[in-house]
Amino acid sequence: MTNNIFAAPAWPYVNGPLHLGHVAGTFVPCDIFIRYHRLQGNNVLAVTGSDTHGTPVTVTAEEEGRTPRQVAEQYHALAVQSLTQLGISLNLYTHTDTENHCRVTQDFFTKLYREGYIFKQTDPQLYDVDAGRFLPDRYVEGECPICHYPRARGDQCENCGNLLDPLQLINPRSRFAKPGETHTLEVRDTEHFYLDLPQFNKPLIEWVKQQTHWKPNVIAFTLNYLRGDDTDENPTGLKPRAITRDLEWGVPIPPEIGDYPNKRIYVWFDAVIGYYSASVEWAKDLGLGDEWQKWWTIAPDTRAYQFIGKDNIVFHTVIWPALLLGYGDGKLPLPYDVPAQEFLNLEGRKFSKSANWAVWVHDFLAAYDADPLRYLLASSMPEYSDADFKWSEFVRRNNDELVAAWGNLANRALTFAYKNFDKQVPAPGELDDADRELIEKSERVLRVVGDAINACRFKTGIEAAFQVAREANFYLNRTEPWKVIKVDRARAATSLYVVLRVIDNLKTALYPYLPFSSNDLHRQLGYTDDLAGTFETRTLQESAQSHLVMLYQPPQPRARWEPSALRGGEPLNEPKALFKKLDESIIALETAKLGKPE
Ligand code: MF3
Ligand code: ZN
Repeated sequence: MTNNIFAAPAWPYVNGPLHLGHVAGTFVPCDIFIRYHRLQGNNVLAVTGSDTHGTPVTVTAEEEGRTPRQVAEQYHALAVQSLTQLGISLNLYTHTDTENHCRVTQDFFTKLYREGYIFKQTDPQLYDVDAGRFLPDRYVEGECPICHYPRARGDQCENCGNLLDPLQLINPRSRFAKPGETHTLEVRDTEHFYLDLPQFNKPLIEWVKQQTHWKPNVIAFTLNYLRGDDTDENPTGLKPRAITRDLEWGVPIPPEIGDYPNKRIYVWFDAVIGYYSASVEWAKDLGLGDEWQKWWTIAPDTRAYQFIGKDNIVFHTVIWPALLLGYGDGKLPLPYDVPAQEFLNLEGRKFSKSANWAVWVHDFLAAYDADPLRYLLASSMPEYSDADFKWSEFVRRNNDELVAAWGNLANRALTFAYKNFDKQVPAPGELDDADRELIEKSERVLRVVGDAINACRFKTGIEAAFQVAREANFYLNRTEPWKVIKVDRARAATSLYVVLRVIDNLKTALYPYLPFSSNDLHRQLGYTDDLAGTFETRTLQESAQSHLVMLYQPPQPRARWEPSALRGGEPLNEPKALFKKLDESIIALETAKLGKPE
């Protein structure tokens, strides 16, 4: 059966380059997932882009004396480059300051306003008297009223994940105050638009309670948030939330609703709508008309997967579903799964842009290949607990696992077959029990890996595939075709054939994780087609400005998540090593480049 799968990583802010933590939690798991589903023959649409609005970008722009657009454009272009190099096969990677996104966001806003889900209200807000500005979101920091973390931001506490309002902060400080300065803050009235979340409280709690396939922590966090201190029949966790800000960078309030030149729609409201607007844009960019509707308006059976970090849970299990319920009259598919990841740390500490305690994706990929990084991130993914990136681990796992267990297996068997069997797959004689057992194991592992990926248990999948690779190594060492060939050529041919069949299966099982090397291996095994698909960067012209996107063209769909049918006598292509051994000296070299931890 063909399924419609919508998958999307969270939209990263472009106030700096992407670091390994960003890609470990969202892009890499999403890419593993969609590459698998495409090989299964499902209809996949995967889109996201740069989150260019909001205070993360404006604060950086002010610090650097540039415009928000300049900052966003620079890091968006860098993100496009990094994601392409890393092989993140999204159908579209766009950004939020496009005319298309503005139109779609305003349409959501207008419809929700007309239906009574958005209302206007004048409320007190923090105001910085010295700077002469209101202090939304990241313009203010202070102590979290819930967990007492000292540097909680006005919009959210990074430590406990709770959404906050600047007025809740204990001892708030303005970001406009330079070090050593204190600014006078006072509370002033300002008018804003509010999303009437309480209207969605009950429907959402009922919906979430049915999502028994979600990760336990995602369900628990969401239910706790929705319930408040009350019962499921009468939950009161949701309060109205302001969805406009006193800023000049962002999506304007729809003109049909009023003239608000100094207000913009709140970044979180517009960013989540990006999932929808980018689907529309994808079809438009490729001249596919209404094709995007297959995953949305006419798609009761679409399964939408949101790949996010744990700090984004509420936005994807509460706010975005609420917007979809209100905008779609109950007819748009709500997220099917929200497999939120924990955090990736770096050498035991939190990533920090300001302290340069980070490994940037573009730096990494300038020095090393994408698949070794994907391997490391997938096999130590922060799926159920925080994980740690260590350079020593990267080198060790690259050398001992990727090169020794998998790359050498493939290379040894292929090189020997290529040289001694006339550049062909050796024709097997009769298979014995051990031969059959190993082939069957490698066929079964395809199902195991597929099921694991489908359940978003990415570590389990890659571990299962590597276990079979290790068994194939034992088999090859035990059957020693390089010795046996001197006395029994037919038997050597059989063992080699068995190993090639196993490698062919493992190539498929590992393709979602290691698309570049698996595609190379696919060719070496004699196939002439392409598994990996092609990337394209395009500069598109809208009426007022040009914009840069990444588009991915999957190879023509033929379901291929199926056991190898390799036959003796089929031609092989010249084998080449799939991975490079790394020198231990890079550990000291790379750790020396890290800044000072905070
Ligand atoms: N930019 C946000 C962050 O980095 C994520 C936005 S995800 C979206 O935390 F759903 F809003 F798009
Ligand atoms: Zn907190």
